[in-house]
Formats: sequence, C-alpha cells, structure tokens
Amino acid sequence: MRVLVTGGAGYIGSHTVLALLAAGHEAVVVDNLSNSSEEALARLAELAGRPIPFTRLDLRDRDALGRVFDREAVDAVIHFAGDKAVGESVRVPLQYYDNNIASTVALCEVMRTRSVRTLVFSSSATVYGDPGPRLFVETMPLSPVSPYGWTKAMIEQILLDLVATGDGWDVTRLRYFNPIGAHPSGRIGEDPTGVPNNLLPFVSQVAIGQRPAVTVFGDDYDTVDGTGVRDYLHVSDLATGHVAALEHSAGPDSCEAYNLGRGHGSSVLQVIEAFRAASGREIAVRMAPRRPGDLAACWADPSKAQRVLGWTADHTLEEACVDTWRWQTANPNGYRAA
Ligand code: UD1
Repeated sequence: MRVLVTGGAGYIGSHTVLALLAAGHEAVVVDNLSNSSEEALARLAELAGRPIPFTRLDLRDRDALGRVFDREAVDAVIHFAGDKAVGESVRVPLQYYDNNIASTVALCEVMRTRSVRTLVFSSSATVYGDPGPRLFVETMPLSPVSPYGWTKAMIEQILLDLVATGDGWDVTRLRYFNPIGAHPSGRIGEDPTGVPNNLLPFVSQVAIGQRPAVTVFGDDYDTVDGTGVRDYLHVSDLATGHVAALEHSAGPDSCEAYNLGRGHGSSVLQVIEAFRAASGREIAVRMAPRRPGDLAACWADPSKAQRVLGWTADHTLEEACVDTWRWQTANPNGYRAA
C-alpha cells in the first residue's frame, strides 16, 4: 500500500515509516515540523536507502493537502500529527482543540473528496481517564481528564460518526500506552524540546549528565514500591502495531479500537533501575509529591490486538532502555546536533 503518514517526522511516526517500508509498503510524509525535525527525515532516508517523499504543511490547509493526495495517489492514511503535551493542553486548550480536531476534520474531508477511506488513527490510553480498574479494556467508557485527552476522545467520536454514514470508511483507532525506546540503529529516537514531560527521556538525560536527578512524582501509591505503574512498550513494537492494523482490514464501515501495550506495568523505580543497568550510569533520584492528574497504576489488556491483529509487543523494558541509551549517547542533543 502507498500510505500517507501525517506527523511522519515525529517520534512514533518516524519509526512507523520504517516499519511500513520494512513490510513492503510505501510511505509519504506530511508534517508541519512544529515539534519535529527535518533531520529525522534525512535519517529515515539514510536508513531506508531512498528518499521519503515529504511535504511540509499544516493539515488545516486543505488545498495544500489536496495537492499531496493528487500527486501521491495514496491508498491509506496513518494519522499521527497533533499536539501531545498534557500539561500544555491545560494552559492552551483552544490551541489543542483547533490543532488536533480541526486538522483531523480537514484530513477526513480531503480523504473523502479523493475517495481514500482507510485510516489508522493515533489515539491514546489517556482516553480512559480514571475509570477505577487498573487494567484498561477497549469496552470501558471514556472519561479523559485533560484537554489533550479530550481531543483524542472527541476525534474517536468524529470517526465513529463518519463510519456511521455507511460510506465505506475503514477506520482503526489505536490506543497507545507508554511508548519508549528508539530504533536499534541509534539514528532515530525521541527528541523532546525543553524539559521532558515523560519519564524515559528525563531519566536518559539524567544518565548522560544533562540533568542532576530524576524527580519521582509520588512514592505513596498503592503499588509494588509506592511509585506509579505504567505499561511501557517499545516504539518499534508500536510501529509494527500500525502496520498490523493497516494490513488487517475489518472491512468497510468499521471503526475498531485496539489497545497497544504489553499487558503489564513497571513502576517508576523499576524503570530507573532498568535504565541504570542499561547505561551503567548512576541515576540520582529525588522523591517529590504526586503529580496532579496522575493515576496510581494502569496497563493495557492487549488481548484484542493479539487475537484480531496477531500483534504483540515483544521487546522488553530492558531492550527499550538499551536502545534509548544508544540513541541518547549517539545524539546527546537529539537532532539538533546534526
Ligand atoms: C503521559 C500523558 C499521557 C500521554 C503519555 C505519552 C500525563 C498525565 N499523561 O502519560 O496522556 O499519552 O504521557 O507518553 O501527562 N514520572 C516521574 N517523574 C518524571 C516523569 C514521570 O516520576 O519526571 C512518573 C509519572 O508520575 C508516572 C510515570 O512516571 O507515574 C510515567 O509518566 P509519563 O512518562 O509522563 O507518562 P504518563 O503520565 O503515563
């Protein structure tokens, strides 16, 4: 298939481009580079051994997007592009609703006019919010707690409504848990701007000496060691999950949702210990109060993706830490050093 990847220069998008090519598909990237770098695309081309067609655009620019569809004759779309920082979404909700939702509506409109009806959407476990149980199953009601989470839940609803028109849309919603790791080559990886919000990039920057200590948000949760528990999965597994979703068509007028996770959790202290072992570096730790909005523990029930898509997340936490460390040491300033 020839696949348009929106946000293909970003962390998950870039790994998915490689997974698509490895599976024999073709990838075409659009990205506004608001939170990603053209250097990532250069490295993708280097890893792929050929250039990746790329257009810099904002998805809300329907004319520019339409021209990409006319030129590239794509069969399907994987849609990653969007703002993704939970804390920022609380401060500037309108930006999040406009950028994430308006761009998805524009994308779907352009797809409709070009008769492209196959879409894989990058949703998030954050749509579940705090439903009580720690094991998240696709059938649970959605109750996000941040504007970012609401944009994902609202887009899921928009896609359900679109499929309900009976116009033959084949949509897949993928709810990710916590992606970590990097490509084993060390050439592409996560490149956060400023202070990382997420645990792994922060730990990695402490290990390499760019930050003094990891702040652990809460050590009094009802968990194995008192720290928060999450379902961390390797970004390469997440990438193959997208290929599996694309290749498995549930048929026209479908809008299935799948959890992509490993099915068990690791605590903050377990993650730090795994990174210590992978890097051979000391990682200083500082205990701090709970971060507002955090859950104690959650992990995926990934059995639907296993059963229907034939997909599992096989990489271990340790492998993901080794790959993150390789990326971090080879690129201490991310793509900016290049
Ligand atoms: C966060 C987002 C989620 C998003 C996901 C993407 C929030 C509330 N949720 O999930 O919507 O889909 O990232 O990867 O931001 N921790 C520390 N110290 C740190 C950073 C994190 O102790 O410096 C802890 C957190 O309290 C949590 C765990 O590490 O227990 C994971 O945190 P994080 O990487 O931010 O992911 P989530 O909060 O699960």
